[in-house]
Amino acid sequence: MNFFRTKDIEQMKQMALASGMVKNLGVIDLILLGIGGVIGTGIFVLTGVAAAKYAGPAVMLSFIISGFACGMAGLAYAEFSSIVPISGSAYTYSYASLGEIVAFIVGWNLVLEYTVTSSAVAAGWSGYVTGLFQSAGVQLPFAFTHVPADGGLINIPAILITLLLSFFLVRGTKESTKLNRILVGVKLLAIFIFLFLAGPKVDTMNWHPFMPFGFSGVAGGAAIVFFAYIGFDAVATTAEECKNPARDLPRGMIGSLIICTLLYVAVAGVLTGVVPYTSLNNPEPVAYALRYIGYNIGSALVGVGAICGITTVLLVLLYGQARIFFAMSRDGMIPAQICKIHSKYRTPYIVTTVGCIVVSVIAGFAPIGVIAEMANIGTLSAFFVAAVGVMVLRLRKPDLPRKFRCPAVWAVGPLAVFSCGYLMYNLPIETWIRFIVWCTIGLFIYFGYSCKHSLLNK
Ligand code: ALA
Repeated sequence: MNFFRTKDIEQMKQMALASGMVKNLGVIDLILLGIGGVIGTGIFVLTGVAAAKYAGPAVMLSFIISGFACGMAGLAYAEFSSIVPISGSAYTYSYASLGEIVAFIVGWNLVLEYTVTSSAVAAGWSGYVTGLFQSAGVQLPFAFTHVPADGGLINIPAILITLLLSFFLVRGTKESTKLNRILVGVKLLAIFIFLFLAGPKVDTMNWHPFMPFGFSGVAGGAAIVFFAYIGFDAVATTAEECKNPARDLPRGMIGSLIICTLLYVAVAGVLTGVVPYTSLNNPEPVAYALRYIGYNIGSALVGVGAICGITTVLLVLLYGQARIFFAMSRDGMIPAQICKIHSKYRTPYIVTTVGCIVVSVIAGFAPIGVIAEMANIGTLSAFFVAAVGVMVLRLRKPDLPRKFRCPAVWAVGPLAVFSCGYLMYNLPIETWIRFIVWCTIGLFIYFGYSCKHSLLNK
C-alpha cells in the first residue's frame, strides 16, 4: 500500500459538487467569519497574561511576530484554496500535494486544534458569564460552573452554549452566519469603545521598560498569543458553501487576518499604555484596564462584547471542526457513515452533533486550561505542512490553474515554514510531549483503520 498516494484534484472537485451543501456565502460573510473565529479569548484575556508573564509592553511585538507567521501561512492557504476549493482546509491541501499519511496527520492535528480550542473557549465563555452574573449580584452555584479538577462537579454554562450553537449549525450555515454577523458587530463595538475610552489615557511611561523579559520573552509571548489567531483558517473550511470560493476564500482569509492583526496590536498597545503590565495577569484585563481609569460602564460594555466575541469564536470553530470531520469521513479516514448531509437543512448534521457533544463533554468535565496550548502546536504544524505543500505543488504541477498565486512563493513559503517552526520551537516542552503522544495515537489510527478504509483503496 502506498501511504503517500495523493488525491486527484479534478476528482475532489467532482466530489465537492456532489456534496449537496448550499453555496451561499459571499466575501463579506467570509471576512466576518474570519473575524468571528479569531477575536475572542485571545484579545480579551491572553493579551494581559502574555504581557504580564512573558513580554511586557513588547507584547505588541509578540502579536506582530505571530501575525507575520499566520500571514505567510495564510498566503499559502489562499493559493491552495483557489486550487482545491473543498472543505477540509490543510487536510485536503496535503492530500492533494504531500500524500495520504501526511494528510491524515494534518487532519488529526486540525481536529486537535478545533476541539481543544472550542473546549477552552466554551470554558472561557462560562467564566465571563459567571462573572457578569456575579457583578449583577447573582451568584451561580460553584459546583455547576466548575469542572471537578477545579473543585466543582460540572460546567453547565459551557455545555449549554456548545449545544445551543450546535443547534444553529445544524439548522443551516446561512442562519449561523447571520448570528455571527450580529455578534461580530457587538464585539467590534466593544473593542472600539475600549480604544476610544482608553486611547487618550495612554501614558508612555507605562511602556518603559519595553522588553522587561528580553527578546526571549517576546518570542515566548508570540508562541502563546498565537492562540489569538487560531480560527482564521476556519474560513478555508467553508469552501463548499461559498458562491465563488476560488476568488473569495483568499480575500476572506487575508482580509480578516489583516483586520485582526491591526486590532490586536492596537489593543495590546493601549492596554499596556494605560496600566502597568505587571497588573495585567487577570482573567479580564481589558475590562480591568477600563475600571482602572475610572470607566465602570465601559468595563461592563466590554464584558458584554467579550461574551458576544467568545460566542462567535465558538460558533466558527465548531463549524470548522464539523467541516474537517466531514472531509475526513467522506474520504473514509474516519467512519464514512457520519458524513451525511441533512435532507432539509443541507448541513453535515451528524458530524456537527458528534463534534459538539465531544466539545461539551470536554468543556463540562475536563481541566481544559492544562491542554489548551496543544491547540497552538496542532495549528502551527498544519500551517507548516500547508506551506511546504504549496511549494511542492508548484514543482510537481506548475500548470495547474491558480486563481490566486502566492506572491514570491519561494520567499513566502520558506518564511512561513521558518516562522511557524520558530513559534513551535518556543512552546513549552510539556506541550511538545503531549503533541508527540497525540501524533503517535493518530498514526495508530491511520495504520489500524484509515489506510484500509480510505476511498483511494476502492
Ligand atoms: N482566536 C480565538 C480566540 O482568541 C481562538 O479566542
